[in-house]
Order: sequence, then C-alpha cells, then structure tokens
Amino acid sequence: MAARGGFSSRIGFIAAAAGSAVGLGNIWQFPYVAGQNGGAAFLLIYVFWIFLIGFPIMLGEITLGRSAQANPYGAYKKYGGKVWGLVGLFGILCGIMILSFYNVVSGWAFGYFLETSFGNLLENENHSSFFGEYVSDFTDNLWFSLGFMAITAVIVLQGVKKGIEGSAKILMPALFALLIGIIIYGLTLPGAMEGLKFYLLPDFSLITGATIYSALGQAFFSLSLGMGGLITYGSYLSKKENIVSSATMVAIADTMVAFLAGLMIFPLVFSQGQSPSEGPGLVFVALPGIFQAMGPILGKVVGSSFFLLLCFAALTSTISLLEVAVAYFIDERKWSRKKAVIVMAILIFLIGIPSMLGYGAIQGLTEFIFYEGNSKSFMDLIQDLFSVIALPLGGFLLSIFIATRWTTAKFSEEISLGAENYKGSFLEGFLNIMIKFVCPVVLGFMFVLTVLQKFFNVELF
Ligand code: TRP
Repeated sequence: MAARGGFSSRIGFIAAAAGSAVGLGNIWQFPYVAGQNGGAAFLLIYVFWIFLIGFPIMLGEITLGRSAQANPYGAYKKYGGKVWGLVGLFGILCGIMILSFYNVVSGWAFGYFLETSFGNLLENENHSSFFGEYVSDFTDNLWFSLGFMAITAVIVLQGVKKGIEGSAKILMPALFALLIGIIIYGLTLPGAMEGLKFYLLPDFSLITGATIYSALGQAFFSLSLGMGGLITYGSYLSKKENIVSSATMVAIADTMVAFLAGLMIFPLVFSQGQSPSEGPGLVFVALPGIFQAMGPILGKVVGSSFFLLLCFAALTSTISLLEVAVAYFIDERKWSRKKAVIVMAILIFLIGIPSMLGYGAIQGLTEFIFYEGNSKSFMDLIQDLFSVIALPLGGFLLSIFIATRWTTAKFSEEISLGAENYKGSFLEGFLNIMIKFVCPVVLGFMFVLTVLQKFFNVELF
C-alpha cells in the first residue's frame, strides 16, 4: 500500500485540527447566537458542553483514527465490520453535504473581502438590501464560491504535510494576529464598554432550555465533531504523540477564538448603537455599516482585515471537510490524490449550486417546500439534515461504537501509547464514563429532540 500522508509534528497536527475547528462557526455564528442568547451566560454553558461532551467525543474520534490508520469508513469497518462501516460512510456523506453549503457562505466572505478591498461595498447606503441583492445574485455567488473551492482544492492537492499542515501553520497565526488587532482597535471606540458589559456580565435570567440546547449544537459543530473529520486527521498522527494534550490544545484554541470573536464584534456593534441580536446578518449587514462609519481609509483597512480573517477561518475548515472525502477515495478506491481532489471538489461545488440559488435567486429554492406547511431555504434544509440532525447522531453512534465494539480498553490502550501516565488516572475513569454513559444519553436525547423539532414542528421550548 502506498504510504498514507502524515503530520510532521505535534504543532502541525494541532494547527490543522484547530484550523478545522475554528471557522465560520466561531466568527460568524458564535457571536450572533451568543448575542441572541444572553451573551456571557451562553458562553459559560457553551464551555461546559465543550468539556463535558465535546472533549470526550473529540478524543474518541482522534484515537479511533490513529489506531485504525484509516478514513472514517475504513476505521469503523476495521473494528466493527461492514455494517458499522456504513456509519463511517454516512459521516463522509455528511462532510460532502456540509462542505457544499459551507463553501457557499465562505464564498460570501470571499466576495465581501474583495468588494471591501477593491470594490465599493463601503460606499453603499443600505447594507441590508446590499446583502439581500448580493446573495440572490447567482453569477456573483457562482464565481466567488468557485474561487473558494479552487483555493481549497489547490491546498488539499499538496497533501497532508505540505498542503494541510503547511497552510494551517501560516493561516492560524495570521488569523490570530488579525483578531487581536481588530479587538484592540474596537476597544478604543466610544461605547465599547457597553459592548463588553453585554458580552461579559452573565444574565442568568436569559438562560432557557433553548439556550442550553443551542449551546450544545454550537459546541458540536464548532469542534468539527460527529462526521469523522477528526478520525481522518487522527489517522495522520504519529503513535508517539500525546493525544490528550493535543486535543486539549485544540479545544482551548477553538473556545478562545469563539470568545475573542465576540470580544471583537460586540464593542464594534455597540459603538454604533446597533443591536447585538441582529442574527445571521450580524457579520454581513451590521459590520459593513460600522466599517463605513470609520471613514474611507480606516474603514477599508479594518473592513478588509476583518473579511480576510473570516476567509482564513473558513479556508482551514473547507480544507478539512474536503480531506475527509479525499482520504476515503485514496484509501478505499486507490485513487491518486490528484484525481480524488479534482473529482470531489468539482462534485461538491456542483452539489452546492441549489444552495447558492436558494437565497432569493430562485423562489422555489428559497422557500423550498419540505412538507405541507413547512418551507425553508434549500440551504437550511441541507444544513438541518446533514449537520444539525446528523452530527449529534454521529457522536451518539461513535460513543456506542467505542463502548460496545471497539471497547474502552482499546481506547485507553491507544491513548496511553503517547501518554505514559494515562492508565489508572482520574482522566481515564472520567473519559470512560463519559463515553459509555453520558455522551450516548445526552447526544441520543439531543438527536430525538432535534428530529421532533425539525420534522414534526414540535415546539420544544
Ligand atoms: N468547525 C467548523 C466551524 O466552526 C466547521 C467544520 C469544519 C465542521 N469541519 C467540520 C463542522 C466537520 C462539522 C464537522 O466553522
């Protein structure tokens, strides 16, 4: 068998896995969801879920991947037979479908970067209608998402070491620097303190069942869990590496960036007296107005830095999503990397077209009739099916798989290869209990609630 790729160092793995985790979920979604759910109170619950559920599932994925040295399908099949292999295959399908719409939103970020730097985005009068026109313009969408997919493909084509690891080592520090730069600037603005107060002083009266539920979904998506992305990255990790400490770094980096994204956005929003609960338009509608108010030169600098940052975050995530499908075709179908990357990138781009058309361009896809009385955009439908519903299910199945087929003994054994004191430690006991009992119960419950809500219109909270 041809040698599989591998990360060259611990830092390389951490950068790549943190790159996968840090994405639109952190910078676009987290601040607006937190803004709608009580700021700091949401953050606390989010961190609770990251460590209680996210961290054990993350270790489960990385460890399974490293032990099996295979893509998600190969890994499940190796220890569980063909039927469990289907779970891995379903994960790969979810990756393909998630990338199909994720790339469209990444294309928006890319387009906004270009329009801020070289175009006239900041001379616009009404940013809300600009956004509406922008996302319903099929030609713009097509070019920008094609461009984004092409950049992703070129990097994945270079392989694990040079492409994935090499790009993450540049993009992640750059992202961090841009983030810190904008935060410092934002804190100097009048009204910034109001933003900080809103974001940092928890208002526990705002915590409802819905807050707790959406924080878990957010944490799961943000860590890139539930579809085998980290099984794939784990399979490129050397046996000497300490998985526990690497995963801890990844979870901390991801939480930090989500936290810092809020710290960047709320002072800007409050400095212009805008509403923190604007929703999905927060980044694309509220922020351009704020950059505009900074004046033509400063606005251009801060605005283009911001959208560049958003592109970097998205790019390390699209890379990881594409790699999952690519790894499958290389391992199982013996395709060359080149063939796998080119075929999958084109295919996934094409699958994304209905999502692109579903923001105003074509009415039937914008209000896609899913069943009587329930219409949503095509993109929302794909997102519900392959992300909101499928990822907790994937995490549930992973924990059942480890508990009943692969066994927690093998799980511990694999971790201890790079972590001498792991066996017999408190952490080992904690993780085994989480994987065997807590994760399946919580994630199974979450899956059922989500299906009830999405398919049967049950009002949960
Ligand atoms: N975690 C990324 C974000 O926050 C998105 C992402 C990349 C992802 N790979 C994934 C989500 C795999 C779920 C599964 O934007």
